Amino acid sequence: MKTTISVQNLVKIYNGRRVLDGVNLDIEQGEIFVIMGGSGCGKSTLLRHMTGAISPDSGRVLIGDKDLTGMNNEAKEKIKQSFGMSFQSAALLDYLTVEENVALPLKEHTKLDPKIISIIVRTKLNLVGLAGYENLQPSMLSGGMRKRVGLARAIAMDPEFIFYDEPSAGLDPVVCAVVDQLIMDLSRKLLLTSVVVTHNMESVFRIADRVAMLHQGKVLQIGRPEEIKHSQNPIVQQFIHGRLEGPITNKETKAGVAIDVEMEGGGLSH
Ligand SMILES: Nc1ncnc2c1ncn2[C@@H]1O[C@H](COP(=O)(O)OP(=O)(O)O)[C@@H](O)[C@H]1O
Ligand SMILES: [Mg+2]
Repeated sequence: MKTTISVQNLVKIYNGRRVLDGVNLDIEQGEIFVIMGGSGCGKSTLLRHMTGAISPDSGRVLIGDKDLTGMNNEAKEKIKQSFGMSFQSAALLDYLTVEENVALPLKEHTKLDPKIISIIVRTKLNLVGLAGYENLQPSMLSGGMRKRVGLARAIAMDPEFIFYDEPSAGLDPVVCAVVDQLIMDLSRKLLLTSVVVTHNMESVFRIADRVAMLHQGKVLQIGRPEEIKHSQNPIVQQFIHGRLEGPITNKETKAGVAIDVEMEGGGLSH
């Protein structure tokens, strides 16, 4: 398989702390790659480097053979058009209809005729199971359906890559399973390379082709879900089983929770 996103020795320092401390990973074309790890361990930060939203202190991110980190803004904007992003909150505009929300990126980045845009939008809504909902306001929809609208918008521009930050945050387990199904569907039907940040273990084992566990700024382990499930690493074992006892200390967990509250509404949208 061809490597399509390559993260190399990535270091990001916030307030003197090495939040990412030399992250290395290669993502292959067409796979669903999951990044898991405790709250505040740097998952969103890593994802935002991959989308070019922030720059590292050192190291680099390659998209294909292009160095995202060294690019000027113009080149970066261009490559970003091959990215679809699904934010932690759906970030839909409530004064627009479902159709208008999904059409936004097409109106912003293309000169397509409104009739063509309308056809594209309907196709995308169809793909996420929302045919017929074009004229509703997002506020009239359930959380799961809003999520679908967000996904339709994320794929509006026919991206090659799609990045999800905690796609199932705040959803009940059934809706979460539906969203997971959708992630898999889109990946398969549109031949997308998907990068998913989550700490939902059920999701990890449902959707991942490969998983990386991030811990203390580094990739602790990377492998197929089966390999992760049977990991010999006590930190990985504690994390996937959510055990209180183990090498991950309570202090770390508490710090993570406090940080998460502070970072609320963060994720890719910053
Ligand atoms: N813009 C920022 N400024 C300062 N600290 C940040 C910033 N973004 C993230 N951090 C810190 O980096 C750490 C990792 O954050 P984040 O990547 O959001 O974690 P995760 O997504 O794994 O919960 C946290 O300690 C957080 O407070
Ligand atoms: Mg996060």
